[in-house]
Amino acid sequence: SMNNLQTEGSSNFRQENCRAKGGSPGFKVAILGAAGGVGQPLAMLMKMNPLVSVLHLYDVVNTPGVTADISHMDTGAVVRGFLGQQQLEDALTGMDLVIIPAGVPRKPGMTRDDLFNINAGIVRTLCEGISKCCPMAIVNLISNPVNSTVPIAAEVFKKAGTYDPRRLLGVTMLDVVRANTFVAEVLGLDPRDVDVPVVGGHAGVTILPLLSQVKPPCSLTQEETEYLTSRIQNGGTEVVEAKAGAGSATLSMAYAAVKFADACLRALRGDASVIQCAFVSSQVTELPFFASRVRLGRNGVEEIYPLGPLNEYERVGLEKAKKELGGSIEKGVSFVRK
Ligand code: NAI
Repeated sequence: SMNNLQTEGSSNFRQENCRAKGGSPGFKVAILGAAGGVGQPLAMLMKMNPLVSVLHLYDVVNTPGVTADISHMDTGAVVRGFLGQQQLEDALTGMDLVIIPAGVPRKPGMTRDDLFNINAGIVRTLCEGISKCCPMAIVNLISNPVNSTVPIAAEVFKKAGTYDPRRLLGVTMLDVVRANTFVAEVLGLDPRDVDVPVVGGHAGVTILPLLSQVKPPCSLTQEETEYLTSRIQNGGTEVVEAKAGAGSATLSMAYAAVKFADACLRALRGDASVIQCAFVSSQVTELPFFASRVRLGRNGVEEIYPLGPLNEYERVGLEKAKKELGGSIEKGVSFVRK
């Protein structure tokens, strides 16, 4: 098999031992959907992450080529490729972190919910594998519609008896990355110095940037607030339309996914005060899942922060967000329960 080919002889095993002895903490990371538009640059960036000792690339097509290519990068992580359903279990066994960008992306005119019929089944299958092979792994779920795929994953894990809500995270980091960029542009700041909490979910009006809580503190006019909220909520659509049928955000998503995965790995290593926004099982609102700022630790989500003071514009936005989000969550739950 391809896996055997990648590890033929003992060179890969020797490398791995050698690195383990080096004493630096190395984590085992799998990417499911690694040959896709998000998956490929994500695989490249994870191969560059010094916290990764082993990188498993799984897809139903094209992983031999992607794996051969990435394996030539002279960084520490040992890369192995896995092709097709019959190699899913080998891809997952022993993993500390599983990142899932598998599934179809949007085309112009589509909402993220239009992807449900295809992606729901893909996520279910992959999560069944996780329950079986690495039930303790942290899961970063990217596949859309995130507002429904996270509840799907939770239901699959519950069925299998492996559900730990702390370890399941829907990736909304791209919304934060966009918000930081767009707000910095309006304020004339370096985006690296800007931090915008984005809560709610990951689709249209469920994406709720809390512009009253931007760091550094700033005051935006009502016009700027409305422009920024709309641009952040429609950032994905901006890319889908610019790509004109060739897919949705892939490069900025890979960047955001790696930023988020790196935070998860630093938390697993034991770093303190690792805080990011993510879509997680939550009691911050009456909904069972909600994106907000969370503190990450050795077990995944260790603490979920309340939304903090909202202004009138944000309170109205929150009610709209909850209404749509509730339906999307319900749709995911009933997909597995039906
Ligand atoms: P793509 O179509 O370029 O790649 C998807 C990959 O998934 C393909 O290589 C395909 O072979 C693979 N795949 C399909 N079925 C699979 C299965 N059963 N097991 C493993 N792999 C499978 O799509 P792209 O652009 O990479 O997007 C992937 C997903 O990420 C989409 O659902 C998209 O909506 C989502 N996304 C989410 C974002 C977020 O902010 N959470 C941002 C950007 C994309």
